[in-house]
Amino acid sequence: MSGSIVVLISGSGSNLQAIIDAVKAGDIPGQISAVISNKAEAKGLQRASDAGIPTEILDHKEFASRDSFDLSLIRKIDSYEPDLVVLAGFMRILTPAFVQRYAGRLINIHPSLLPKYQGLHTHKRAIEASDLRHGASVHFVTEELDGGPVFIQASVPVETDDTPDTLAARVLVQEHKIYPIAVKWFMEGRIQLKDNTPYLDGVSLLDNIPLLES
Ligand code: GAR
Repeated sequence: MSGSIVVLISGSGSNLQAIIDAVKAGDIPGQISAVISNKAEAKGLQRASDAGIPTEILDHKEFASRDSFDLSLIRKIDSYEPDLVVLAGFMRILTPAFVQRYAGRLINIHPSLLPKYQGLHTHKRAIEASDLRHGASVHFVTEELDGGPVFIQASVPVETDDTPDTLAARVLVQEHKIYPIAVKWFMEGRIQLKDNTPYLDGVSLLDNIPLLES
């Protein structure tokens, strides 16, 4: 029996695609049981359908509160009995109840070298700060927004003529490399969260986060 992965998206789903491709290539032991979007127009839904993966839409605008949306989302996710829940461009702030439900098996990719630039407009902020390098991070999700323990990162140079869009595109290429690796490690049982510390093959990553540099 291979493990079950549920992926949550809101948009293009290019990271989802990278994970679909890695599963198809046999790099990730497991299957994507469902892709759930809070937006009906998310392009990633088509990517999932094309790969034969069940899709669901849960529109947050149809719920009276964040709590009721998240509870409904939990019910949907749990029907697929996932070992891992992957946030891939899922642009929602999650309630503590949601985060606690999937503690240790909920991961996210964020387009910055965390702890730098939590929140939005990360590429613009890196350019404005004249950073020499920028990147992306995969982390376990905790109640602090974009604040959970990071276990793999990728960094790219910031060029002098970069706009937020050109920089975002360079970072995205690296996202597509590290997110499948992160999912692979998790599904292989190699990465674990204990006492808020990520371990790879039993070794703490607290001061030693794997970094892919380009
Ligand atoms: C990615 O750049 C991802 O890092 C970012 O949204 C984009 C989704 O692209 N996520 C966040 O900003 C979460 N805070 P995709 O839909 O093509 O994978």
